[in-house]
Amino acid sequence: GFSWKLEDHPKLPKGKVVAMVVLDGWGEANPNQYNCIHVADTPTMDSLKNGAPEKWRLVRAHGTAVGLPTEDDMGNSEVGHNALGAGRIYAQGAKLVDLALASGKIYDDKGFKYIKESFETGTLHLIGLLSDGGVHSRIDQLQLLLKGASERGAKRIRVHILTDGRDVLDGSSVGFVETLENDLSELRAKGIDAQVASGGGRMYVTMDRYENDWDVVKRGWDAQVLGEAPYKFMSAVEAVKKLRAEPKASDQYLPPFVIVDENGKAVGPIVDGDAVVTFNFRADRMVMIAKALEYENFDKFDRVRFPKIRYAGMLQYDGELKLPSQYLVSPPEIERTSGEYLVHNGVHTFACSETVKFGHVTFFWNGNRSGCFNPEMEEYVEIPSDSGITFNVQPKMKALEIAEKARDAILSRKFHQVRVNLPNSDMVGHTGDIEATVVACKAADEAVKMILDAIEQVGGIYVVTADHGNAEDMVKRNKKGEPLLDKNGKIQILTSHTLQPVPIAIGGPGLAPGVRFRTDVPDGGLANVAATVINLHGFQAPDDYEPTLIEIADN
Ligand code: 3PG
Ligand code: CO
Repeated sequence: GFSWKLEDHPKLPKGKVVAMVVLDGWGEANPNQYNCIHVADTPTMDSLKNGAPEKWRLVRAHGTAVGLPTEDDMGNSEVGHNALGAGRIYAQGAKLVDLALASGKIYDDKGFKYIKESFETGTLHLIGLLSDGGVHSRIDQLQLLLKGASERGAKRIRVHILTDGRDVLDGSSVGFVETLENDLSELRAKGIDAQVASGGGRMYVTMDRYENDWDVVKRGWDAQVLGEAPYKFMSAVEAVKKLRAEPKASDQYLPPFVIVDENGKAVGPIVDGDAVVTFNFRADRMVMIAKALEYENFDKFDRVRFPKIRYAGMLQYDGELKLPSQYLVSPPEIERTSGEYLVHNGVHTFACSETVKFGHVTFFWNGNRSGCFNPEMEEYVEIPSDSGITFNVQPKMKALEIAEKARDAILSRKFHQVRVNLPNSDMVGHTGDIEATVVACKAADEAVKMILDAIEQVGGIYVVTADHGNAEDMVKRNKKGEPLLDKNGKIQILTSHTLQPVPIAIGGPGLAPGVRFRTDVPDGGLANVAATVINLHGFQAPDDYEPTLIEIADN
């Protein structure tokens, strides 16, 4: 039968302190002026790269290596940390939704049947991120869902959009809204009352994560449910164009707006008897709105009205909380993660990041489960992030504080694994501010140094890697790799992640002699890291894990 017991590794010892450092958004790319990691002063990461060649390599962090539909899909933190923690490649939300829509199975399953019960007398509301970024959602999936729902009886549809500019170019929101409006007008021509009802920028409206700032969700609630917002327009295209014309406006941070009719009345508040679908497949930024829509008892903000609705998520967003209880597509069944195995095999773990990435090294790491497996064996520490700011104004973020916590955990010798995520290169990279991103990369490098110094002191081992690229390339490029210019001749800033591979380095005084990267897994990806780390804790990885990246040379 099944057993959690891991076999002893034939050559590697147990009980070493292993620091597992994930630099968020730290890829490897050609050195040039748009590579902020190259431009920044990063002596620690440079020394790992320029050190022993058998202890530094690149791993794949995008596309099919992390369970995404195609090789054109950039990596992201959800799929990256899932792979790092689970050691296997799972077809991820983006792909599962594609398959369910293509086969039509989505309409036969219980989630759709549940919301369909409201179609006769209520409105169907669709809330989510409007872009083709493929990180949290995809507009083509929304388009198919609109078509499918209307063919199956939805007579009145309201779409509540969140503009992107973070997984896609800033300014692209206008085009996506035009595409959506076009689809909605085709539905109207078929007699379906379909309209955009509200909107706002994803970072300012609705899509907060890890309870960093409930005001973000409240602003969305007011617009989507109550039909109230500081800005009112008669058309969504006009709304986005006008709001973008304000000084310093960007897609990510557009203020909330509602669409009103000629009498100034909001066209689509959510009311009793309606159906609501949040159409993002990715979990982290949907958990908070899901709680607001689903929980009878809720005290995070005053909802004013709590309509009796039928609510379903595109996916179930939290496997532990079973949230939401209804969903259209089943999430990947990520089980037997490395964290759970290690806890069952006596490995004490410490995990830490600041709020905006805290769930990445806990929730995503553990296969989209909130909470720890065994509180006696694990300690998870969250350092509060600054909220209400864009991180280019504070590019050092909490890197130092995270490193100090990791250092203390290492020096305490109470833990075998000390796992952190350093957010800087990703969070600041997403702002598109190149100068600030350079500062961010330096800060992350300093944090790595502090952790490696502590590992040195306790005779431990380090594994330093990243979850996907971001800061190593800040410009949109054509197929030939040349920077693209906008119509004013300025370069187009890339706020999103990239398709680049990421580094992984191993070392430290506790690393057994002869341990080196194998050369026979050239296509190794993030999913190969879990077996590697399990080995470094002195165990053999489960058979079905992706192969380890290391071998032990006999001297
Ligand atoms: C975000 O949610 O901030 C971006 O869409 C993706 O960033 P992450 O995958 O690094 O969290
Ligand atoms: Co990111």
